[in-house]
Amino acid sequence: MNVLISTEDIQRRVREMAQEIARDHPDGVHLVAVLKGAFVFLSDLARALPGSCSLDFMAVSSYGKSTSSSGQVQLLKDLDSGLENRPVVIVEDIVDTGLTLTYLQDILRARAPRSLKTACLLSKPSRRKVEVQVEYIGFTIEDKFVVGYGLDHAEKYRNLPYIAVLDA
Ligand code: IMP
Repeated sequence: MNVLISTEDIQRRVREMAQEIARDHPDGVHLVAVLKGAFVFLSDLARALPGSCSLDFMAVSSYGKSTSSSGQVQLLKDLDSGLENRPVVIVEDIVDTGLTLTYLQDILRARAPRSLKTACLLSKPSRRKVEVQVEYIGFTIEDKFVVGYGLDHAEKYRNLPYIAVLDA
């Protein structure tokens, strides 16, 4: 497996992203993390956030065990609390086709948050099927299937502390 983004580079970028988010949300922020892939990113991001923050989790499934998107998004776990009038940032591992995020943004926007922004550690713009707005992007990468730092293939490799390209 080839390391694409080292632990040190991820840590540095996540700290920068936390500063950007804090600057844009001086009164605190409600982080909505998308399970399972975002759990590592969320934990580093939340600990690097200087301001006040609260957390909630959603789970969606769009891939199953395949490495390409079926385009079908299924809500597996909803949030525990409402979003009305809250400054919300969606925390997601990667934006690929954009279908999952579009679905999430649509259903969360309907809950009337005060603001709704999105933070993704990784983006693969060449794979986009729908245009989707992402205010905070950690790294832009090529069209390669990556694992580690929360990202899996068939539920494996989430525990790697770096991002690696999965050999086919
Ligand atoms: P999208 O709907 O195609 O944008 O897919 C988003 C979801 O697909 C992400 O939240 C990931 O769970 C998964 N995904 C997309 N690309 C990769 C990858 O390279 N490695 C692991 N998971 C991926």
